Amino acid sequence: MDAALLLALGLLTQGLDLCWGYPGLPSTLYPWRRPPTLGRVRRAWVIPPISVPENYKGLPYMLVQLKVFALDLGGAILEEPTDLEVLVVDQNDNRPAFVQEVFVGRVLEGAAPGTYVTRAEATDADDPDTDNAALQYSILEQASPELFSIHARTGEIRTVHVGLDREMVTVYNLTLQVADMSGEGLTATASAIISVDDINDNAPEFTRNEFSMEATEAVSGVDVGRLEVEDRDLPGSPNWVANFTILEGDPSGHFNIRTDPRTNEGVLSVVKPLDYESCAQYELRVSVQNEAPLQAAAPRSRQGQARLSIRVQDINEAPVFPKNPLRTSLAEGAPPGTFVATFSAQDPDVEQLQRVSYSKDYDPEDWLRVDGATGWIQTQRVLSPTSPFLKDGWYRAIVLALDDGSPPRTATGTLSVEILEVNDHAPALAPPPAPSLCSEPDRGPGLLLGATDQDLPPHGAPFRFHLSPTEPGLGRNWSLSQVNGTHARLRPRHTLPEGLHRLRLLLQDSGQPPQEREQPLNVTVCRCGPGGACLPRAAALRVGGAGVGLGALALVLGSAAVLLLLVLLVLLRAQFRQRSRDRSLLRRLHDDDDLRDNILNYNEQGGGEEDQNAYDLNQLRHPSELAAPSFTPGRPPLRREAPQGRGRPQVPRAPPASPADIAGFIRDGLQAADSDPTVPPYDTALIYDYEGDGSVAGTLSSPVSSLGDEDQDYDYLQDWGPRFARLADLYGHP
Ligand SMILES: *[C@@H]1O[C@H](CO)[C@@H](O)[C@H](O)[C@H]1NC(C)=O
Ligand SMILES: *[C@@H]1O[C@H](CO)[C@@H](O)[C@H](O)[C@H]1NC(C)=O
Ligand SMILES: *[C@@H]1O[C@H](CO)[C@@H](O)[C@H](O)[C@H]1NC(C)=O
Ligand SMILES: *[C@@H]1O[C@H](CO)[C@@H](O)[C@H](O)[C@H]1NC(C)=O
Ligand SMILES: *[C@@H]1O[C@H](CO)[C@@H](O)[C@H](O)[C@H]1NC(C)=O
Repeated sequence: MDAALLLALGLLTQGLDLCWGYPGLPSTLYPWRRPPTLGRVRRAWVIPPISVPENYKGLPYMLVQLKVFALDLGGAILEEPTDLEVLVVDQNDNRPAFVQEVFVGRVLEGAAPGTYVTRAEATDADDPDTDNAALQYSILEQASPELFSIHARTGEIRTVHVGLDREMVTVYNLTLQVADMSGEGLTATASAIISVDDINDNAPEFTRNEFSMEATEAVSGVDVGRLEVEDRDLPGSPNWVANFTILEGDPSGHFNIRTDPRTNEGVLSVVKPLDYESCAQYELRVSVQNEAPLQAAAPRSRQGQARLSIRVQDINEAPVFPKNPLRTSLAEGAPPGTFVATFSAQDPDVEQLQRVSYSKDYDPEDWLRVDGATGWIQTQRVLSPTSPFLKDGWYRAIVLALDDGSPPRTATGTLSVEILEVNDHAPALAPPPAPSLCSEPDRGPGLLLGATDQDLPPHGAPFRFHLSPTEPGLGRNWSLSQVNGTHARLRPRHTLPEGLHRLRLLLQDSGQPPQEREQPLNVTVCRCGPGGACLPRAAALRVGGAGVGLGALALVLGSAAVLLLLVLLVLLRAQFRQRSRDRSLLRRLHDDDDLRDNILNYNEQGGGEEDQNAYDLNQLRHPSELAAPSFTPGRPPLRREAPQGRGRPQVPRAPPASPADIAGFIRDGLQAADSDPTVPPYDTALIYDYEGDGSVAGTLSSPVSSLGDEDQDYDYLQDWGPRFARLADLYGHP
């Protein structure tokens, strides 16, 4: 309904009280004209819907006229105004419309009939319940042969025939039409673009049956030529890309074919150098396939294989030393002109007869001469065995071989000559600058003697050291002991007189036969201190003062060190003895031999303050009363460790009369005590005091001097707990 119609209706309703007319309307619209029924019905206006066709152009359009008024006698209006319903009857006034202008679809080439491709869709704004919106699709135009159909109602586009071939038609452009009124009414068109997708239905084919190429020998990694192929499938796709295979003719794998990704050509390259002399012509059979497998239905290719002839081009190759490096050996000191080796090269170019000439490239000692025509090598001088170019006995030289091709080619050969050692040197003694050793055989380190040999092993070390057999008496005075391969140690067999001793030694190396040398050796024999160092002569001592030589100083320091060491040893010994004594107390020792070690007076019990026997303090207070005999009451202190038989202790002189001299008296006494080796203190082992009587502790006699274990009651050990149970078992009374 449009505005014009609405306006018309408005006019109608205004004029409704004026007239009612029924101009030419169908009778079905007037139900009140039905035959009267028997029942009484209240009369009222019943106005049926009025149907108005839409889009009526003749406006104003008279729908109905009411010309009847329902009034009572008084003229009052009997009926209320009534609603008037107007139905607008749909007309096909809307065109169907496709939802897209272009529908896109894809289909694989060779697709079977009935394959779904895409679906077209259209709408119609008319009443969907009426025919006005009943749409029907059809294909207006398509290139022949007609391969696609559209479903009239659903709009689905499908293939109808075989024969889709991308290689023929890549894209189909269908013109679609949709019409309402079930195909009779209004229409609209759209297009459907259908692309045909590629399948591998075309095998690659060589453009020719035979290819021929030329390749240069002795090079690799170079491209030789190209093999053209054709494939009608989609370029760049796996259905198109060619893959080449060498079927036969290249058993050693000299060639390779790769694919040029741009042109799809096969590029033949040499991956292993060719050798014209061994094969001058190659006949290959190659095949080509796609990366993707070929469709089973595709026609077999006619030229999937091709023959490939490759001619190898000869070039001038360098001569070759058959044995490189060449190793040989030569005796040391070989005279000039000695033949060393024939170092000749062969030229691989057999077709041209080439002459090879030889020259020296590296010969740092200028030792060798190379025959330019034959490659013979001789020495031209004597090679010094000390040459810096002799590395581990090997001499290295480099020889060049040059052919006369064009361009000439050179080969480099290495000659390694082992210089064989000849035992041409005897070992020589390398004695210390001032050989000296102790006169006593068990003092000092002896004299270390070394030897050297100019020969290298096996003609050098180990050496053998002998006393010269020409002086048989030497063996009675001297002994030589081998230290290692290069050193030996000389010692006197017994105490020898001090002074210079002249010896003769015989040295042998380990060559076959050995070289030997007799050598004199002057040895100073000296008296040694306990450390094994030569004691300085009395004369050396006399130098004294500021002029003490460095050697003498070292000697003195050494002696002091040795003295210190001795003192330390004595201390250690004392301590060790005490420990062993402590241990032996716990042991039950019965035999008298062992008692010796245990009855040492290493300490004496003192009586403390109450002990008046050990020290009479009065004597200290009244030095005048001190008399020599009264100083040693009872027996004098005697220790087993004390040096025996060195005389009795020196008795201090008579005490001074006046107390003023007491300092001198003490000093003298101290000196006497210090210089007396027989009295304590012996360094740290001191006698502190002597046992007196009247001590509450009873006598502290040493354990072994007691009458025996039987006197001792060890029962208390029982009370000491389980740890001492074993001891209690041993010592306690059963
Ligand atoms: C398809 O055909 C229609 C009518 O012939 C044309 O207007 C349209 O451009 C074509 N589309 C393509 C993609 O060729
Ligand atoms: C090419 O062919 C060879 C054998 O002929 C195969 O091993 C290789 O995988 C193929 N390459 C591709 C990319 O298909
Ligand atoms: C060996 O030593 C003694 C002195 O102890 C000496 O008289 C003698 O000549 C020495 N013998 C040799 C062969 O040197
Ligand atoms: C041999 O002994 C000496 C002295 O001990 C030492 O100096 C030398 O290096 C040793 N030689 C070898 C080869 O062990
Ligand atoms: C050994 O001493 C003598 C003289 O004392 C001397 O003639 C000789 O050359 C010395 N020999 C060596 C090897 O030093």
